[in-house]
Amino acid sequence: MKDKLIVIGASGHGKVVADIAIKMNKWKRIVFLDDDESVKACMGLQVIGKTGDAFAHKDKADFFVGIGNKAVRKKIQEKLMEEGLNVISLIHPNVVIGTDVDIGVGTAVMAGVVINSSTKIGKGCIVNTSSSIDHDNVIEDYAHISPGSRTAGNVRVGNGTWLGIGSVVSNNVKICSGCKIGAGAVVVNDITEPGTYIGVPVRRIYR
Ligand SMILES: CC(C)(COP(=O)(O)OP(=O)(O)OC[C@H]1O[C@@H](n2cnc3c(N)ncnc32)[C@H](O)[C@@H]1OP(=O)(O)O)[C@@H](O)C(=O)NCCC(=O)NCCS
Repeated sequence: MKDKLIVIGASGHGKVVADIAIKMNKWKRIVFLDDDESVKACMGLQVIGKTGDAFAHKDKADFFVGIGNKAVRKKIQEKLMEEGLNVISLIHPNVVIGTDVDIGVGTAVMAGVVINSSTKIGKGCIVNTSSSIDHDNVIEDYAHISPGSRTAGNVRVGNGTWLGIGSVVSNNVKICSGCKIGAGAVVVNDITEPGTYIGVPVRRIYR
């Protein structure tokens, strides 16, 4: 671990993850990189350059990609890892994490989250504010569990799938990769086709 953390992305999501880093109290200095040259600081933390500048800091900093957009987050995180930069995970001190839980690199776990025993969370995921993921779940890489979402036991959420705010997934349900689950939706059966799903219980509105 280095004494400097560089967060890539100085907008809304970047702010929240930088705030987690502040609360973790592990880094002496936290700064941002952002491709918008007009952004000079965020929450009082300096923006020191653009995304491409990350590689010049390779041996001097830890890195976190604070970008909400899944495709962009994945692209940047994969590039940083390929180049051997040290991508870390950020876990808010006010979370409850059970025994035998794995959390992948580049994943953010926000305030008020509960993750129960034997759950595996992949890399580059967002486990957002006050969501709860119960026992024996598998949350695949780059998935996003939005604020207040709930998954029961033995749920699987596919690569890059997004559970909207306040959605609920019942026990033993598998949701494939490439899905968007709408705000407040309830998933009670497996979803095997990518698409956008809304309602109680969910129905697909777009492929
Ligand atoms: C599901 C969702 C992705 C669809 O977004 P969209 O493609 O822009 O769809 P639209 O807003 O055009 O809505 C299409 C239709 O579905 C309805 N709809 C959209 N989201 C809905 C939801 N969550 N529950 C019920 N109905 C919904 C709309 O009312 C609209 O109905 P209509 O055709 O009868 O007017 C979006 O509405 C949603 O729920 N996003 C979640 C946001 C979120 O969780 N943010 C957290 C960020 S941390």
